[in-house]
Parts: sequence; C-alpha cells; structure tokens
Amino acid sequence: MKLFVYHTPELTPTDRLPDCAVVIDVLRATTTIATALNAGAEAVQAFSDIDKLIAESEKLPPEKRIRAGERGGAKVDGCDLGNSPLDCTKDVVQGRRLFISTTNGTRALQRVENSPVVITAAQVNRQAAVQYLQQKQPETVWLVGSGWQGGYSLEDTACAGAIAKSILEEKGQSNPEAIGNDEVIAAIALYSQWENNLLEMFSQATHGQRLLSLNCEEDLKYCAQTDTLDILPIQTRPGFLVKN
Ligand code: MLT
Repeated sequence: MKLFVYHTPELTPTDRLPDCAVVIDVLRATTTIATALNAGAEAVQAFSDIDKLIAESEKLPPEKRIRAGERGGAKVDGCDLGNSPLDCTKDVVQGRRLFISTTNGTRALQRVENSPVVITAAQVNRQAAVQYLQQKQPETVWLVGSGWQGGYSLEDTACAGAIAKSILEEKGQSNPEAIGNDEVIAAIALYSQWENNLLEMFSQATHGQRLLSLNCEEDLKYCAQTDTLDILPIQTRPGFLVKN
C-alpha cells in the first residue's frame, strides 16, 4: 500500500485515480455523513449543486428523505437541516435517505468519485477507515482533504495524518515504500503535534473560527472526538454512500 495525502481537491492529480480514495472533511461533512449512517440513515446522497439535490430528492416521498444543505457554514434555505452532525439523530434520519450538499466536502467527493473505491473518514470514524485499509490493502490510497474553497484546512490534513500514522506504525514505521509524497510526512507531523488537543487545534483553525462565530461550539467538540463511531461510509455509485 502506498499512501498519498492531498490537502485539497484542487491539489489532487487529474490524470489518474487511486485504487482507494479516502475523502476527509472533519468540519463537518464527513463527520455528518458517518453520524447519519450510524444513526440508521438508509444512505447518504451527496451533491455539489443544491438545485440537483432538490430535484433528485423529490423522487422520494417526504417521509423517506431529509435534505441537508450548507454554504459558508450556515443552513441553506429550503433544506431541513444544515450540516451539523448533532442534528443527525436516530429520530431524524433513521430509515431515510440524507441528501447533502456542503461548501467543500461534497466537492471533494465529486473530485474522486470515479475511483474504484471511495470511502469517507473523519476523526470520529478514523479507526474504521484504518481497519478497512489494513484489511483490503489497496495498492494506492489517496487521503483527500476538503479544505476551504481551494485553501488547506488544518483539521482535514491532521485527520489524514492520523490515518497515515496508524497505517505506517502497523507496517513497522520506517517504510519509505509506503509513503507516496511529502504531504504524508507533513500530515503525520501535524497530527502528532495536536493529537492530544484536537479541540484546541479546531478552535484555532479558520473554519473552526467560522463555526464558533456561528455558535457551533458543540459541533467542534463532537467532531474533535477520536474513534467514537465504528462505521465506514463507502460509495456504491458516484455520490451515493452506504454503511460498509
Ligand atoms: C464543507 O463542506 O465545507 C463543510 O462541511 C462546511 C461545514 O462546516 O458545514
């Protein structure tokens, strides 16, 4: 297995795809996706475009769907939810399909959606992603951060580092064969510096600051937890994720 880290969708190569892409948007899309599936959502369908989300969701009866839309951290008018994982409780999502569109996370998914395998990871389900990679041993793995509108986000790269660190430790660390680019080493260094204080890191990060200004402190606390959900979202067709 060779790992590559890309901080943003814009930095991922366009001339090839990995055997497995791991899409990461810790604040908050991939945390929300893991939480919704863990709470019993039938599936999550991701869209970069809100109008397409509305049109597609109309194909299901109202009791079978729930719409989550976020732009700039805030809820989109006309959607049932914004992008807070805390809203994805059992009574809200169980047995329903979550249709979701967010500023960056769903764009990152779209960027690698044609890879043979696409999974999503966040800090809350980090171990489930690690276990999957360890079991399946895909030859090339891209850990793709969502960032914020083309810029890099601390929390996504730190999560990529958390995944890479576990995998490399298991492989006996000094295994240059497994390191595909320098970003892997940088991501591990970033995670190692903050692993015992992720909430503090999230509070300093620009998107964390944005969410704090929108009174989303509880979201930050929730997203900063490690390995609390034993669930792995996996794509079965472009933009369509189910529990593995
Ligand atoms: C995104 O896709 O940019 C995020 O998930 C934004 C958010 O925190 O809702």
